[in-house]
Amino acid sequence: MEVIIRETQQDAVDLTALLLRDLLSSKPHAVLGLATGRTMEGVYRRLVEMHLGAGLDFSLCRTFNLDEYIGLPRGDVGSYRHYMYVHLFQHVNIDLRNTHLPRGESDDLEGECVRYEAAIAECGGIDLQLLGIGRTGHIGFNEPLSAMYSRTRAKALSPETLRQNAGLFDPPSRMPRRALTMGVGTILEARRCLLLATGEEKAGIIAQAVEGPVTSMISATALQLHPRCTVIVDAPAAAHLQNQDYYRWVFENEPEWDGYQ
Ligand code: F6R
Repeated sequence: MEVIIRETQQDAVDLTALLLRDLLSSKPHAVLGLATGRTMEGVYRRLVEMHLGAGLDFSLCRTFNLDEYIGLPRGDVGSYRHYMYVHLFQHVNIDLRNTHLPRGESDDLEGECVRYEAAIAECGGIDLQLLGIGRTGHIGFNEPLSAMYSRTRAKALSPETLRQNAGLFDPPSRMPRRALTMGVGTILEARRCLLLATGEEKAGIIAQAVEGPVTSMISATALQLHPRCTVIVDAPAAAHLQNQDYYRWVFENEPEWDGYQ
């Protein structure tokens, strides 16, 4: 794992978008694992700007989102399919047939999870998985005690996650209590993981995720086991990290990051 601390939220968002751009430029057929949530809105805004301004091409890429709520009608304004359409898909030249989210409206949820895993495998696996982190330390909707080897499945959302996201529903009681989510094991199979966290409210959980012991109580700690995981944080989200100087030193000295300083 490596940790990159950028001063501002915008700097952290910009670096994340640049890494996605560079992957798409070098590998137009890339398979992207995508996330939703407030943190990602700025990343998608930058990608749309790169498409409109510099012609960043999405026409050949394939995308798989981490998760989707269970029980919302397809196209519901609270669904992650709708989020992706509003924030990214409608603005860029992506082929919607190449965009995948678990179908939370399916009446065969188990079958849907098997189908989703098979679809990822058929595309050759995920090149880069974009991740946010929830207050419980979830990645995707892998709530506390999610097995490290878990696969795509239905999960009950924790009370903390309900509090985190209910405000995005009108009325808040409309928020589903369950979601389909890639498992921790599914996420760890991505060739690269990129976790973005910004804001002081993420400082505590980021410190646990990066510097704490690996535990299924905090799914994001599983990323410590991944051979190629980059965590990008702004200064407020980095505030509780013990080894900030070391992370900054690595970023300044690893040639890989030369063009990104
Ligand atoms: C969303 C997802 C979640 C969010 C996390 C952070 O697809 O998988 O893990 O990334 O809940 O959400 P925000 O960015 O709203 O704090």
